[in-house]
Amino acid sequence: MQKEVGTVISTPEGPTTTHFDFVISDNRVRKGQFVTVDVPTGKVIGSITEITKANRYFERAESVAEYEKTSPISASFPVSEWEYSIASVNVHGLLCDGQTVRSTYPVSPGDRVFEAEPEMLKKFLQLDESGIYIGNLYHHDLQIKLSLSKLFQKHLAILAMSGSGKSYLTCVLIEELLERPPLSGRIAIVAIDNHGEYSGFKNTQYGKQTTVITGKQFKIPYRKVSPQMIREWIPEMSASQYRELVPIMQQLKREMKQSGSPFGIEDLIQRIELDLNDKKKENIKRPLLGWLTELALLKVIGSSDSHQFEQFVEPGRLLVLDLSDIENQRKKQIIVSYVCRRLFRLRKKEKIAPFLLVVEEAHNFAPEKVEKHHALARAPIITIAREGRKFGACLCLISQRPVHLATSALSQCNTNIILRMTNPFDIKHVGESCEGIDSDMLNSITTLRVGEALIVGEAISSPIFVKIRRRKSEFASKGKSLELLSKSFEEAKKKKEQDVEAFL
Ligand SMILES: Nc1ncnc2c1ncn2[C@@H]1O[C@H](COP(=O)(O)OP(=O)(O)OP(=O)(O)O)[C@@H](O)[C@H]1O
Ligand SMILES: [Mg+2]
Repeated sequence: MQKEVGTVISTPEGPTTTHFDFVISDNRVRKGQFVTVDVPTGKVIGSITEITKANRYFERAESVAEYEKTSPISASFPVSEWEYSIASVNVHGLLCDGQTVRSTYPVSPGDRVFEAEPEMLKKFLQLDESGIYIGNLYHHDLQIKLSLSKLFQKHLAILAMSGSGKSYLTCVLIEELLERPPLSGRIAIVAIDNHGEYSGFKNTQYGKQTTVITGKQFKIPYRKVSPQMIREWIPEMSASQYRELVPIMQQLKREMKQSGSPFGIEDLIQRIELDLNDKKKENIKRPLLGWLTELALLKVIGSSDSHQFEQFVEPGRLLVLDLSDIENQRKKQIIVSYVCRRLFRLRKKEKIAPFLLVVEEAHNFAPEKVEKHHALARAPIITIAREGRKFGACLCLISQRPVHLATSALSQCNTNIILRMTNPFDIKHVGESCEGIDSDMLNSITTLRVGEALIVGEAISSPIFVKIRRRKSEFASKGKSLELLSKSFEEAKKKKEQDVEAFL
């Protein structure tokens, strides 16, 4: 039985094919709720963008002021009987034989308006019963389960200010991916974790599916480093310096193959020292040696593999690259740049499973308007963003400063999940870069609470507000309150002092 909520009215603005107003007959109606109107060709579906209240008795300011001088108007007139509410509705489409099509004819004044039923919404929003359960739709009893392909294949961006639940939501997505049965199609997950927020998966029910590699453990094997990569990591290198470097690296590679033993970056430095002995090449040799020595000091390039991706990037498994133990931004960027290139290469050759690469603080790795020198991972991230979809290499970019995130990466993210955001520059940027967001939605973003999200884009046929579901694996995150942090610091200090006293 459909629940009637009002009647379409005629206003100077409509009804039109995209908008109508209705007078509310059920005061449980709320902003954001989906409603339907039966038309001969199917059901028009829309959502309430605003609710306005009106009352004839209070329309004229001077009469209200005059009356209220002696006694309240409500004492002399039946004011409550004349109060009514009008809901404005944005039309999203027409559901016709199970298909959603564009609405091309307006509803009529006088038409009955009904609350949208969950089963119908499921069809309209193109939800997938075996999809990723992210949370519940506001005002409706409906679980939002998004299709795996629609959500990830054309990349996902999670944008919000700090502390609004980005990492929490990402954990929910990871849980869903780890729980998928093989028959539904499983992908591998690689999380680039700046603050050690995902390592906790190791101590949960998903522990067996999780591998954690810390930044200090991670080494890039020298034999996998191409001259192109070195050039990417040392953007100051000139064309002539690069021309000298290539044959030396190629020669070293040949020798490495013949000898069968792994070489390191130190071998390359030595070889450059020997091979570029000519006095004329001094201005090529010196800077090259300087840069390569700096690179070697980062201790990020090793002689052999610390970890092989083929082993860990498996369907239904999570690989966490915990970079929280690295201070040096350059080192982090080099690791991320290598990981992106390597994963994409292996995926193209089908040596690893289709994967989702989660990049926390994406604006640090793929920043907009920052010199190449400080954005070493930007090009590889953009490459996956541009070409990944054909090969099953999916990106999930997470950022609290969308304004600083490379537009060429963000614009490739066809689904956006936006949580609370208050910075006007970020909101404006989101409005410009995400298709399908109108000004009402942008205004609502500032009023969202922690754990509430707006989903817009490929994964859903119409933008919706969702309450993100609770996580199944609650593990201590690093986001402790200041009270807790200071208490535990004092307790640890006290214990240390007591231990010293006992020892003396
Ligand atoms: N859907 C939710 N339900 C319940 N609690 C939540 C939800 N989302 C977030 N929280 C809580 O809010 C706090 C902040 O969340 P989270 O760490 O995910 O924010 P963040 O956006 O990743 O912040 P940062 O930008 O600092 O990384 C956490 O303590 C988390 O437990
Ligand atoms: Mg976070």
